[in-house]
Amino acid sequence: MTKIFIQKSEPLRGVVAIGGSKNAVLPLLAATLLTEEPCVLDGVPALKDVEVMCRLLRSFGAEVTEEPEAHRITVRTAVIRTSEAPQDLVRAMRASVVAMGPLLARTGFARVPLPGGCAIGDRPINLHEKGFAALGAEVRTVREEDGVCVEASADRLAGAEMYLDFASVGATENIMMAAALAQGTTIIENPAQEPEIVDLANFLNKMGARIKGAGTDVIKIEGVDCLRGAEHCVIPDRIEAATYMLAAAITHGNVLVDNMLPNHVTPVIAKLRESGVRIREEESGLRVDGGAKNFLATDIKTLPYPGFPTDVQPQFMAFLTIADGASTIMETVFENRFMHIEQLNLMGAGITEEGRRAFLPGGARLHGACVRATDLRCGAALVLAGLAAKGETVVSDVYHIERGYEDLAGKLSGLGAQIRREEEL
Ligand code: EPZ
Repeated sequence: MTKIFIQKSEPLRGVVAIGGSKNAVLPLLAATLLTEEPCVLDGVPALKDVEVMCRLLRSFGAEVTEEPEAHRITVRTAVIRTSEAPQDLVRAMRASVVAMGPLLARTGFARVPLPGGCAIGDRPINLHEKGFAALGAEVRTVREEDGVCVEASADRLAGAEMYLDFASVGATENIMMAAALAQGTTIIENPAQEPEIVDLANFLNKMGARIKGAGTDVIKIEGVDCLRGAEHCVIPDRIEAATYMLAAAITHGNVLVDNMLPNHVTPVIAKLRESGVRIREEESGLRVDGGAKNFLATDIKTLPYPGFPTDVQPQFMAFLTIADGASTIMETVFENRFMHIEQLNLMGAGITEEGRRAFLPGGARLHGACVRATDLRCGAALVLAGLAAKGETVVSDVYHIERGYEDLAGKLSGLGAQIRREEEL
């Protein structure tokens, strides 16, 4: 099992370059299924989840060329051999579900095992199904020995108006991709407005789709008969950027977080400034100065974009454990995204929770411990806490981290952190 070992860190210093967005590149890869022509994606991060998505595309019949050192992937799906997603890959990565919309639009059929829950919640796909049904697909739940599948079929999807009960990122992506090839116009009310939605719409429009309003509270899609290949550079990963901003802050360091888009992390900048961290824009990124003074407590409430991102909640919680004074964190997006509290408490954080609220007393004197990454962002939070904890922190189940962070230990080490990754044979 691979583990990460972290010592209490001196203030981090230097420049860290942010990679392409995991949560943008996964739907972009799925979107390449919508055309028989080749597509080229640049700025692709070297992540485990990207490898799984490439295996998934190949399982449908795509030719996928991965050039991780060039951060480039080329996909050509001349013919879709099957519209059934293999269970092992969907189980390995629930984001596989966003292949459903493209498969349905391109072939008239899609069958995906229910991804099932994970550490942070049940992760249902009822809104995805509602969207496909609104577009005229027949949607069925099929119970089998080894699990439950969702099937959707339609001769030709027809544009429709629909409202999303929750601004689901995945559902918005799936519906947008399916509607791109539907007959007529689709209106999505209350869609997700994340930057990753905008990036997907931009790529689809390069392919010949006619999508307006991505990033706002109404998206309009005028269906077309076919889409062509396109080239696209993935937006920077705003969650990775926020993670390194917090690494600089928690160590009172001074770091340039480079190749990022500050307007994608507005709530994180605001909350760090409330805590007394100095942040200023520089040519292609943000200079984060943790300063010498102790941090001030502040309260966090996660919301769909443009609210405070749930994917930064665990990392910000690690930071607030050492702030002066009590903080409250409310998680409104996922029903179980507090698994990191138990792990942070092993390090002396003293956090209590009640439902979707976590209460941090602050002023914690964190100490090293053997802790476990229960999910991707929990793992990142434990690494950040380890930078501020006396003694050695050992994080296990590191594979969660490597799904979404390219070389986290190496990048932190490059900023002066005492951190190493070790494979235990
Ligand atoms: C995406 O997941 C991200 N993953 C998640 O990032 C992120 O936390 C999430 O959006 C919210 O921003 C990728 O983009 C690959 P949702 P997704 O559908 O699409 C409920 C990370 O750490 N819901 O917006 O699965 C759901 O249960 C990951 O990088 C329904 O009820 O998120 C949840 O409570 C974690 N029915 C809420 O909506 C549905 O049909 C948000 O889910 C769909 C979702």
